[in-house]
Amino acid sequence: MTKILIATEKPFASVAVKKISKIFKKAGYDLQLLEKYSSKQELLDAILNVDAAIIRSDKIDAEVLGAAKKLKIVVRAGAGYDNVDLKAATENNVVVMNTPGQNANAVAELAIGMAIFGIRELFSGKPGGELRGRTLGLHGFGFVARNVFRMARAMGMKVIVYTRYSKHAAAAIGLKVTNSLEQLYEKSDVISIHVPAKGEHIKSVSYEVLKHLKDDSIIVNTGRKEVINEPDLVKIMEEKPGIKYISDLTPDCEKEFEEKFPGRFFFTPKKAGAQTAEANLNAGLAAAQQIVDFFENGDCTYQVNG
Ligand code: 3PG
Repeated sequence: MTKILIATEKPFASVAVKKISKIFKKAGYDLQLLEKYSSKQELLDAILNVDAAIIRSDKIDAEVLGAAKKLKIVVRAGAGYDNVDLKAATENNVVVMNTPGQNANAVAELAIGMAIFGIRELFSGKPGGELRGRTLGLHGFGFVARNVFRMARAMGMKVIVYTRYSKHAAAAIGLKVTNSLEQLYEKSDVISIHVPAKGEHIKSVSYEVLKHLKDDSIIVNTGRKEVINEPDLVKIMEEKPGIKYISDLTPDCEKEFEEKFPGRFFFTPKKAGAQTAEANLNAGLAAAQQIVDFFENGDCTYQVNG
């Protein structure tokens, strides 16, 4: 019998788990659940005898892939797959997939919420501002950014974008694409970061870019902390005391933020962007269906390795 593992340190909503179970039951597969685990050993033990795994931000490194002798496919229920060692997966003949777009609306709503939280002075009672009429700069233009664009536009914001790969998609809907990242940061009141933690994006938000920010701008990061050069972020926040950083990722230099920038930052205690019942359902069901399609029809549509 085909064995499937759902390994989620941060569990899906129970309604999503129920519906995922139904898909596998119908396919005649056996489903095991490992939720809220606290040690890597638990993951190693659980993945040992399964043919497929659904994960979220769970780390699937070379050790895990080496131990999982029967594993044929891992589906990351979500967008970013920087938590999976793709090279080791390919070496172990494991197909890795993601579920692009499935949790995008949830993350976009959080980004908008964070922008409001930032401009309203973190709900501290200090007079804040409004987003209407202000300029939103989208750093990247994937599924999440496109949803942020839709919401920001409805709120009366001007939206501009910097993207290398989706220029045509942006231009097609009349969105102004800046010539450089520097220009995006210079012209925006709110920056929303939507690039993955890979390649040229790693530490792309450096001092050379940040120095162009207006003094009262807000940076919203619902992407990955790896895209920001943290010492450079600290430096610009020291130089421009009106800048705020609101993030769904806690930076490594959290302590420094607490000491130096009270009232100018917020970090969710646990990554919350995709943590809605709707996003769990969308991404979880897509992951389950992709696994069934892979085993039954050899479908590798969403493969990201090999
Ligand atoms: C993603 O890459 O899809 C998001 O960062 C959500 O991650 P999560 O599933 O760990 O909440």
